[in-house]
Amino acid sequence: MGKVYYVSKNVGLGMLVLAVAALATIIALSIAYDKERAKNRGKPGDEATDSTSMPPPPTTPFIPKEPWDHYRLPDSLVPLSYNVTLWPRLEPDARGMFVFTGHSAVVFRCVKETDLIIIHSNKLNLTTFYGHHAKLTGLGKATVPTIQKSWLVVKTEYLVLQLHSRLAVGSLYLLYTEFLGELADDLQGFYRSEYIEDGVKKVVATSQMQATYARKTFPCFDEPAMKAVFNVIIIHDRATVALSNGRDIDTVDSVIDGVPVSVTTFEPTERMSTYLLAFIVSDFVKIQSTQNNSLLVRIWARRKAIADRQGDYALSVTGPILQFYEHYYNATYPLSKSDQIALPDFNAGAMENWGLITYRETALLYDPMLSSTGNKERVTTVISHELAHMWFGNLVTLQWWNDLWLNEGFASYVEYLGADYAEPTWNIKDQIILSDVHKVFAVDALASSHPLSRREEEVNNPAEISEMFNTISYSKGAAVLRMLSEFLTEPVFAKGLSSYLNTFAFNNTVYTDLWDHLQKAVENTPGMHIPHTVHNIMNHWTLQMGFPVVTIDTRTGSITQKHFLLDPDSVVDRPSQFNYTWFVPIKWMKTGVEQQQYWLLQKTDINSQMRVSGEDWVLANTNVSGYFRVNYDLYNWDRLLSLLSTNHQALSIINRAQIIDDTFNLARAKIISTTLALRTTKYLSKERDYIPWDSALRNLDYYILMFDRTEVYGALQAYLKKQIQPLFEHFKTITANWTKVPTKHTDQYNQINAVGYACGMGVEGCRELIKSWYRQWMENPHHNPIHPNLKSTVYCSAIAFGGVEEWDFAWRMFKNATLASEASRLRAAMSCTKAPWLLNRYLEYTLDPTKIRKQDATSTIQYVARNIVGMPLAWNFVRARWGYIFQQYGKGSFSFSNLINGITKRFSSEFELQELKKFKEENLHVGFGSATLALEQAIEKTTANIKWVTENKAHVLKWFTEESK
Ligand SMILES: *[C@@H]1O[C@H](CO)[C@@H](O)[C@H](O)[C@H]1NC(C)=O
Ligand SMILES: *[C@@H]1O[C@H](CO)[C@@H](O)[C@H](O)[C@H]1NC(C)=O
Ligand SMILES: *[C@@H]1O[C@H](CO)[C@@H](O)[C@H](O)[C@H]1NC(C)=O
Ligand SMILES: *[C@@H]1O[C@H](CO)[C@@H](O)[C@H](O)[C@H]1NC(C)=O
Ligand SMILES: [Zn+2]
Repeated sequence: MGKVYYVSKNVGLGMLVLAVAALATIIALSIAYDKERAKNRGKPGDEATDSTSMPPPPTTPFIPKEPWDHYRLPDSLVPLSYNVTLWPRLEPDARGMFVFTGHSAVVFRCVKETDLIIIHSNKLNLTTFYGHHAKLTGLGKATVPTIQKSWLVVKTEYLVLQLHSRLAVGSLYLLYTEFLGELADDLQGFYRSEYIEDGVKKVVATSQMQATYARKTFPCFDEPAMKAVFNVIIIHDRATVALSNGRDIDTVDSVIDGVPVSVTTFEPTERMSTYLLAFIVSDFVKIQSTQNNSLLVRIWARRKAIADRQGDYALSVTGPILQFYEHYYNATYPLSKSDQIALPDFNAGAMENWGLITYRETALLYDPMLSSTGNKERVTTVISHELAHMWFGNLVTLQWWNDLWLNEGFASYVEYLGADYAEPTWNIKDQIILSDVHKVFAVDALASSHPLSRREEEVNNPAEISEMFNTISYSKGAAVLRMLSEFLTEPVFAKGLSSYLNTFAFNNTVYTDLWDHLQKAVENTPGMHIPHTVHNIMNHWTLQMGFPVVTIDTRTGSITQKHFLLDPDSVVDRPSQFNYTWFVPIKWMKTGVEQQQYWLLQKTDINSQMRVSGEDWVLANTNVSGYFRVNYDLYNWDRLLSLLSTNHQALSIINRAQIIDDTFNLARAKIISTTLALRTTKYLSKERDYIPWDSALRNLDYYILMFDRTEVYGALQAYLKKQIQPLFEHFKTITANWTKVPTKHTDQYNQINAVGYACGMGVEGCRELIKSWYRQWMENPHHNPIHPNLKSTVYCSAIAFGGVEEWDFAWRMFKNATLASEASRLRAAMSCTKAPWLLNRYLEYTLDPTKIRKQDATSTIQYVARNIVGMPLAWNFVRARWGYIFQQYGKGSFSFSNLINGITKRFSSEFELQELKKFKEENLHVGFGSATLALEQAIEKTTANIKWVTENKAHVLKWFTEESK
């Protein structure tokens, strides 16, 4: 699955500062929440019920006894092929319900004697034949046992058939089912998506099977290792087109049950997993091209989007990216076509269904006139991510969800390589530092983190599976695979990879299979040497959580490593077989000269090469190719800081960003002083590159979050204003007074930061500039004078500094937006207002799918929470309606955990900590689903914030006050 970006890159940052405001109103507002709670406590008229004093209901631990009590399928039956026919109805039935019907025949082999057939089936109404939910026949000479009884198990989502006698090992059988399901708008399984085109409501039937929703579409052995061939037929309205994983080979008109329909038959799929299936019926149109004379590449979307040429960019990069992977993997694209489709309702960012990739519109469609550079980059990287899966993940699939990190981490790493090939001028590979490495460092430095790799038996039910789709899997997976590729070198890594893919094509693996093939590649490369096997080295990174901070003392040459914990007082109760030491590959340089890679294999070591004196300096982890942080003795830090202030370009862009991010985090962990970290930002008045600036702003955002409700904020603002002013002036100059767009890709991003922060910090001329642009647009809604790159920032500040008129204008433009990315910018910007009543009204809108689409509800609440005025309102809102929100989004929704994360970001007082704990207690009976871990992390982070603020407030205030003079 593709990543979900709540705040599309380069949109989020400025919004935080822009939404900062005075807030006398906040305290009064929490009263509203208490009233809400009082209402919700107990049923009406049930005065005596006080849920807080009731003991929790006794929970007896559930011990699975019967085979159907287990969430995993027994290993007695193996599917070979399915014939599936589906008929979605795009009009409601007499009950007002949208449904689909279908039938399926699965051929399976019995590999272990059994008198039970257990197959997944969820929320399907199955037709009965002579009282049973299925028909069983034997193929070939197999004699068929008769069915004794059949029943459905709701909890484990099974259809179970008890037979009168046993199936014979080696024989083939055929199980036939007929079913009726709801085509709900729940974004799971075969579902319904609606949109308005030219004033007409249109309905699309589409699907999302990962991880456990294929079973909601037809009865199937719904585990990734249960690969089979699928023969698909879709029955649909004659005015629509049907798509699936394979190429359509035949469409005939027919009349079924008196209804005129088309029947589309698809070529048999390759041997594949159920979670990669896709079925779509729509009246969408396409553009297409042919790759290498035979491979059909198509982009599908709403008619209007295609007419506006919003699919052109996606089509133009798909070919090059496919070519890149064919070369990189040394394997041809495994299928006969590649469809990509943009859907109006979609939960994840994108889904790598084999041959029919589904996207959110913002992740596939790009309008050169209306979209920003950030939108374009997102399209490129998401396409690159999903296409990487066509081989890694789809052709070769991990056995079980516990190894999800390898699948997602891999795609999250190579997406940068594919995107770089398609857009070589962007320097996009550098951005993995910001978007993955630094991002996941923040999570993986908590004592509540977890190892990348989980044991198979730890991951069973759908909630546990969906919890695997987290930042650790995606971003840490990407970071450690990048490290591996760096120390093996890319050619060796690619060689091992290609051998792995070719060996296991159409089959399943466990993660150690990849290590074995990489090890073979190492051994077959003359001159290649690593200190331990790939397996051994990587175990240190995948089997224990966290990462080390490596400390180099340049006076003695001593090197030590230690588990890096953001909160030094946190207690790690998770044992590690390696005692939290790692095999650390260290690329480093001495006074600007690259040195030979050094391996730190113990807790401490001496490397006399790293001993320096005089003006010499050491910089380790060049280009952040390793997944660790670095600390030095104070002398070396001083030399690095003085290098930054005199000649910052002597260090690479990535390493400038790294020095800032490392020091800020080392300071958080009390390893170095806060002022040493703050000193790394002093040279920024001379910095013009995006990545170091962005790294600094992300870190300073923490200071803003912690202090924007205190007296420190004035001094912080004055300092940041002083630092950002030259950057603002720089862009004013290179854009010829804001009339041109900077040419360099990253300059375009940096301009956004410059304008956003300059306005937030009150740099002269900034707010006036923005207000005048927005006003021009309000006066002439058909002509938007704001460049797409700057729209997010401009909209947000105009709404922050404006009133209801600006807000309502944005709402109107939001409702009329035909481009999804424009709509999502406006949706984010509307959260920037400082008026509590507007924010509360906006929060209410998130519960009304006609106002805010369901897929956008939780992220809209998060946007509101980022606003200093909106934070307590969003918190109250979520607490008051937890039961409802949880029921709507909590069970297995990928985005859900981010809601808790987002809301609690600013929490830094004892009072807020108590509220959070109370919230946890009061909702134990409802549960937290995929947000369970996020809630624990929120409690841990809040505790750390409280301590940090107490310890740092005084000298941070002093430092900012002095440096802003
Ligand atoms: C399944 O479909 C294939 C291809 O149309 C056909 O050859 C085969 O007989 C079908 N099998 C069953 C059991 O219906
Ligand atoms: C399935 O059957 C149940 C019970 O009869 C009914 O309530 C439900 O609406 C049916 N589902 C569909 C999609 O018709
Ligand atoms: C690519 O695959 C071909 C055939 O499978 C093989 O001969 C060749 O050596 C491979 N190239 C690399 C770089 O692995
Ligand atoms: C898949 O892998 C298993 C185990 O390595 C092997 O026994 C089987 O033959 C393979 N199947 C295919 C279709 O390659
Ligand atoms: Zn993915």
